[in-house]
Amino acid sequence: MAECSVTVDSTDEMSYSTKEITIDKSCREFTIRLTHSGSLPKNVMGHNLVIAKTADMQAIATEGMSQGIEKDYLKTDDVRIIAYTKVIGPGEEAVVRFDTSALEAGGDNYSFFCTFPGHIAMMKGKVVVK
Ligand code: CO
Repeated sequence: MAECSVTVDSTDEMSYSTKEITIDKSCREFTIRLTHSGSLPKNVMGHNLVIAKTADMQAIATEGMSQGIEKDYLKTDDVRIIAYTKVIGPGEEAVVRFDTSALEAGGDNYSFFCTFPGHIAMMKGKVVVK
């Protein structure tokens, strides 16, 4: 049986607890639980987790910046976004469950990242689809 969910922690060090998320397409749906183990306030060190094609990552983050924290630094109607969580602060968590049919297996096409301004340089990783 494939693992159809993963928990990713985020920190005050502007990092995620993993550099890679593997999604097995034998899971029709996949669940990501984002936690925040830090203590800095959300408006200072908030984090979200967004999945998109790596080629679209920077544009989504740049556009998200202009949306403000009230909108989770994300233009959520952007069709290039495959999955996303809201921005969370310390002690909070956010869960996103999404259909894996939007993902193509193989290759090196997808990434996860944080769209809080300035975070994408450090808060990103690879999404492996198999
Ligand atoms: Co962040």
